[in-house]
This record gives sequence, C-alpha cells and structure tokens, in this order.
Amino acid sequence: MKLLVTGGAGYIGSVVAHQLVAAGHQVEIIDDLSTGHMTNLPGAATFHRMSIHQAADIITPDAGFDGVLHFAASIEVAESVRNPEKYWYQNIEGGLALLRAIRGAGVPRLVFSSTGSLYHGDGTRPFDETAEIRPQNPYAATKATIDMMIAGECGAGRLGAVSLRYFNACGAAKLGDGRWLGERHDPESHLIPILLQTALGERESFTLYGTDYPTEDGTCRRDYVDVRDLCDAHLMALDVIEPGRHEIFNLGNGQGFSNRQVLETVKAVTGVDFPVVVGARRPGDPAVSVASNEKAHRVLGWKPTIELVGTIASAWEFHQAVHDGSAQLIRR
Ligand SMILES: NC(=O)c1ccc[n+]([C@@H]2O[C@H](COP(=O)([O-])OP(=O)(O)OC[C@H]3O[C@@H](n4cnc5c(N)ncnc54)[C@H](O)[C@@H]3O)[C@@H](O)[C@H]2O)c1
Repeated sequence: MKLLVTGGAGYIGSVVAHQLVAAGHQVEIIDDLSTGHMTNLPGAATFHRMSIHQAADIITPDAGFDGVLHFAASIEVAESVRNPEKYWYQNIEGGLALLRAIRGAGVPRLVFSSTGSLYHGDGTRPFDETAEIRPQNPYAATKATIDMMIAGECGAGRLGAVSLRYFNACGAAKLGDGRWLGERHDPESHLIPILLQTALGERESFTLYGTDYPTEDGTCRRDYVDVRDLCDAHLMALDVIEPGRHEIFNLGNGQGFSNRQVLETVKAVTGVDFPVVVGARRPGDPAVSVASNEKAHRVLGWKPTIELVGTIASAWEFHQAVHDGSAQLIRR
C-alpha cells in the first residue's frame, strides 16, 4: 500500500514507519520535527518537513494514498494544562486539516493514535472501549475530540478508521544497522525514562508520588505497552479497516504494574541502586489505570508479547547509547 505517516520522525511513529517499509509498503512521512528527529526516519521513506496543517499539499486526489497513520501531535499533559491553546491548534486544528485533506483526496483508511488517558473510572476494573470518557486535561480532550471527528467522517463517507488507544508506550526498537529508536522527550514526564535517567545519574533521585493509594503496595498502578507490540497492532489494524466504520481498540498489557514494581524492575535490570524520595500524591493521579485488551485480541488477533523486564532492558540499552553518545541518534 501507499501510506502516509504523520509524526513519523517521533518515537512511536518512527518505529511503525520502519516496520511499514520492512513490510513492503511505500511510505511517505509528514513531520515538522518539533519533537521528532531526522535520524529516526527510514531511508526508503519520502520525507516532507511540514506541519499537518498543510497536509492537503501532500494528500492530493492524484497522490493515490491507500491510508494515513496519524501520530503527529503535541503530547505533554502538563504543558496542555498550562497552554491549552497550543493543543487546540496543534491537535484539533491540525487533525481537522488532515481529515479535510483525507476527505478531499478520498483516502480510504486512517489509523489514529488515541490515548487510554481519556477514560475515567474508579480503578476497580480494566477500561474496555465502552468505559466512560471524561478527559482530565486538554491533551486527553483533544484525543477524545479527534476520535469523535473521525467517527463523524466515517459515518458520512467511505473512510474506514481505527483509533488505537495506547496506555503508556515504552521500550525501544533496534534497527538492523544497530541504531535504536526510543523514547526521549524534553521535558521527560514518563516514568520509565525518568527512572533510567536516574539510574544513569542524570537525575539526583527519583520521586515516588504517593505511597498511600488503595493498591497492593500503596503506589499507583499503570498499564504499559512495549512500542514493538504497539507497532504490530498498527499493521494488524490496517488489515481490518472497513469502509464507513470506525473501530476503537485499547492497547495495554491488561494488568498493569505499580510504580514500585516498575522502580524495582528498573533497579534489577540496570543493577543501580539509586536514591528514592517519597513525595505526596499528585493532584489528578488516579490510583489505577489499566486497559482491557480483550477486543484487540479478539478482533485484531493482537496480544502483547514483551514482558516488562524485556521492555525495560531495551529502554536501558537505548538510554545508555544516548547517554554515552554512541548512538548516531536522535539529535535534531
Ligand atoms: N508515548 C505514549 O505513551 C503515548 C500514549 C498514548 C498516545 N500517544 C500518542 O502517540 C502519538 C505519538 O507519540 P510519541 O510518544 O511518539 O510522541 P513524539 O513527540 O515522539 O512524536 C510526535 C511526532 O509528531 C511530530 N509533530 C508534532 N506536531 C506536529 C505537527 N503539527 N505537524 C507535523 N508533525 C508534528 C513531532 O515532531 C514528532 O516527530 C501521539 O499522537 C501521542 O498523543 C502516545
């Protein structure tokens, strides 16, 4: 297929773009490099350095795209609370421009990176795709809004789409030439990279926010999904898309791990016993957020295959490579 990947220079988009190329697809990438990296791009893909707001310049009726995989977004929750306008502009207006281009060109398939953080619950059971949607911040609100816009487009025309609601993406993928594609946001807000930066001495200590939650060890429980497993789900999703239908799949490991379990696994994998500070709960942090992956398994045939220890081991290799500069990566 001829496929357009938005955000293909970023963490998850680049892993998927490489895999699409390896699977024999013809890939073009739109990315403004606001957080992505040229060095993440597959050599065989055609790259357009531009914003998704200008997507109609590339997604023309003559271009003949069979599908779009839409990863490009601003993704920092805390920033979205401070500066919601950026998120309305980047994610919603950008998403709308992309959908308009898709409609104008008659592209038949769309796979969208949504998020598990738009669900709200009491933590007593895993979130399935029918769980209540109640975004707690502007970032999650943009994902819920785009999901609704996609549903509308599918209802009105021949577009078929899949929204994949990832819980926490993590881990790193190694390319055939030895380079790593991994997670490194600036500022970093994700648990595993922060722990690994602490193990590397880039941070003095790790703060565990809240140890009095109603969980098995008192710390928050979250779901994690390896980027390589996520990548497989995108390729499977392309195969099940039907014209006029919008399907939603939650992607997580289905059980989750407490923050303390992740911390102990990082210490075991790295062999570094770094200082840990216990802090107060952070406002808005739910005790438990875990995905049900039953629908993804039943419909896509998808199951996570990589254990937490394997995910952390891959992320550790990536972070060490970044730290000592031995990876030819990931600098803009
Ligand atoms: N990382 C996670 O745990 C996670 C969880 C749930 C959902 N998601 C979603 O997955 C997608 C990819 O996330 P990621 O972690 O790879 O983030 P990332 O920041 O590494 O990648 C985003 C990419 O999009 C590009 N981009 C941003 N705005 C753009 C614009 N207006 N025009 C063109 N390119 C633009 C960036 O340069 C970057 O390459 C995002 O949509 C994110 O919301 C991620």
